[in-house]
Amino acid sequence: MQRINVALGDRSYDIIICNECIKDTGNHLSEIGLRGKVGIVTNPVVNRYFGRRIRESLKGAGLKPFTITIPNGERYKTLKTVTNIYDKLVSLKFERGSSLIALGGGVIGDITGFAAATYLRGIPYIQVPTTLLAQVDSSVGGKTAVDHRKGKNLIGAFYQPQRVLIDIDTLHTLPRREFIAGMAEVVKYGVIADEVFFNYLEENLNDILSQKTDSLLHIIKRSCEIKAHIVEKDERDVSGRRAILNFGHTFGHAIETITGYKKFKHGEAVAIGMVMAARLAVQLNLCSHHAYKRIKDLLNRIGLPTELPKLNFSETMKIMQHDKKVSEEKIKFILPKRIGEVISFSDLVHADLKRVIEDM
Ligand SMILES: NC(=O)c1ccc[n+]([C@@H]2O[C@H](COP(=O)([O-])OP(=O)(O)OC[C@H]3O[C@@H](n4cnc5c(N)ncnc54)[C@H](O)[C@@H]3O)[C@@H](O)[C@H]2O)c1
Repeated sequence: MQRINVALGDRSYDIIICNECIKDTGNHLSEIGLRGKVGIVTNPVVNRYFGRRIRESLKGAGLKPFTITIPNGERYKTLKTVTNIYDKLVSLKFERGSSLIALGGGVIGDITGFAAATYLRGIPYIQVPTTLLAQVDSSVGGKTAVDHRKGKNLIGAFYQPQRVLIDIDTLHTLPRREFIAGMAEVVKYGVIADEVFFNYLEENLNDILSQKTDSLLHIIKRSCEIKAHIVEKDERDVSGRRAILNFGHTFGHAIETITGYKKFKHGEAVAIGMVMAARLAVQLNLCSHHAYKRIKDLLNRIGLPTELPKLNFSETMKIMQHDKKVSEEKIKFILPKRIGEVISFSDLVHADLKRVIEDM
């Protein structure tokens, strides 16, 4: 079992990374002082795999579990779903001391976190992420949100969980494509913060892709450490430090939007976005061609897409300009200087962007 502390003053919490430990959820809640009613927010798929184990564990620790099932999929990440959760909590008479568990991928985590942030002005919640993306990214850092019809994650709150319990065993039932998509975020951490970790990914890829326990524990732990460290420095995304987590995401969001969120999983679009950002960095003489090639080759070996679908330049620009990461009319790009270090770059001329999009 690995333990990482996210140091945020009175909002600090531990991330636990372990194998076959979902059965200990009840003890984790007791350890952080939670008792009484616990709402397990999940979807039918995840509930079928892990719901019973969690409920039994909670009962064993003297807690009172209630399962709140919401439909599966990003299209249900809405205020309407959150309202249904409130209705359930009100009818079950959940109080300030009651808590929620987000059991599922990033969609469940974001919705549950937002419901916890707002019900009775905030009740405690823990994250039990079951996709690789949620384990290395969305469950850590306290960004909670739902989508608006005009855009993703437009309504939300910063609200930290009280614990993140990552059971790597849950990944065995995850569809292969979801696992591979989550790997894009793992590669991202190597590029933005840690060359040694990037080397590890290159050298141990077969073990990682065959989900060997030690390699899974290592990549999830290192990813969480890097994310925790960045969040500690810029919890609310104000100083610009947290923005480095957006490496690959500015192009990635544009690709997802243009392809109607259908063709690519989020991680797949981010993989293409990271290759585009690296290519742009080479073009601007910020980064070596060798580093660009290592990023692209690793993503290819993982099985992630690295080639751009046909994009219209002016449409892409329009979307990126509407992206919430635009400050004072300028699009901010996170670009690699080398493997392990990125910079924020906003002095780009259209011609540079046009060339990257056309070249790819
Ligand atoms: N809050 C943040 O900081 C943050 C960061 C990144 C992404 N996100 C959000 O995360 C969401 C995407 O998350 P995701 O990629 O985990 O998608 P997801 O939550 O939709 O899960 C993907 C699929 O896997 C299924 N699933 C989950 N765990 C499973 C398991 N162990 N076995 C079998 N099937 C399982 C789900 O039911 C779903 O069908 C997006 O809404 C995105 O906006 C949030």
